[in-house]
Amino acid sequence: MWKSPKLTILLTAALLMTLSASLFLRSDYAAPNREFIPEMVYSPAFATYSGNPHFTDGKTQQTFPEGTVARGHLPFAYGPTPEEALRAGAELSSPPTPDPESAPAAGRVIFESFCIPCHGSTGAGDGTVTQRGFPSPPSLKAEHARSLPDGQIFHIITWGQGNMPPYRTMLSPEERWEVIPYIRKLQQETETGN
Ligand code: HEC
Repeated sequence: MWKSPKLTILLTAALLMTLSASLFLRSDYAAPNREFIPEMVYSPAFATYSGNPHFTDGKTQQTFPEGTVARGHLPFAYGPTPEEALRAGAELSSPPTPDPESAPAAGRVIFESFCIPCHGSTGAGDGTVTQRGFPSPPSLKAEHARSLPDGQIFHIITWGQGNMPPYRTMLSPEERWEVIPYIRKLQQETETGN
């Protein structure tokens, strides 16, 4: 039939291989087929809470090494005490804003949502809750509040102070910094008599 015996051998071998492969594979298409090298299909990963012989403490979930910082969560290195508030005031300053003109506008939204009930719309310390018996906070326009460095205000917003609750879980660090230019604007308005 064919002139070349080499080609005949080759084709016969290919035919045999195809036949044996089709015998090896299942014909039941509803059932999963045979898997070669299943280790490559199924990851041998350990479940988070399972035991693990590869670590000395036998656990899969390892505790974080000391000093680990979660992505996007810079730790606030100041404790909730008045001394630490002073230290924050001396060491921290507001992050630079790309557009100082529009910075108070962003802070206004935060101030009006979170601070107005106590501090009042102008920061004078006459918010609604003070008319219902809550002790009035000092005016944010007073000399004392004006002299507070940004870092100390950031600390006060973060940890609270006296009757003022902490805002570290409600406002991100960025939002806590953002409100400060608006407080400064309110303070300037008093200076110029607006
Ligand atoms: C539940 C009422 C309340 C809310 C809400 C509140 N504060 Fe206060 N705030 C106070 C009180 C009361 C004080 C005085 C604390 C003290 O005893 O020293 C104060 C003090 C301050 C001071 C220090 C003023 C000074 O002269 O010592 C700043 C700054 C301040 N608040 C900013 C804010 C900002 C910004 C917000 C909103 C994110 C806010 N506060 C929300 C009640 C409140």
